[in-house]
Amino acid sequence: MYVCICNGHRDSDIRAAAREGLRSAPAIYRRLGKPVRCGRCLEFAAKVIEEAHGAREGEREVPQVA
Ligand code: FES
Repeated sequence: MYVCICNGHRDSDIRAAAREGLRSAPAIYRRLGKPVRCGRCLEFAAKVIEEAHGAREGEREVPQVA
C-alpha cells in the first residue's frame, strides 16, 4: 500500500530501507530518491519503520517538518 501519496513510497519500499538500517522517514525517503514534501505521511511511515525494526511502543521517532 502507499504510505506517501506525494512521492508514491510504498510500505514495502520503506520496510526494505528500514531493514538496511535506516531509522527515520526523511532518511529513507532520501534513499528512495524523493524527499519529504508535505509531511502528512510521517506518522504512518514511522509506524511502518517501527514495525520493521521491531521497536517497542514509545520508542518511535516522529520527525518534525518545518
Ligand atoms: S504524503 Fe508523504 S510527503 Fe506528502
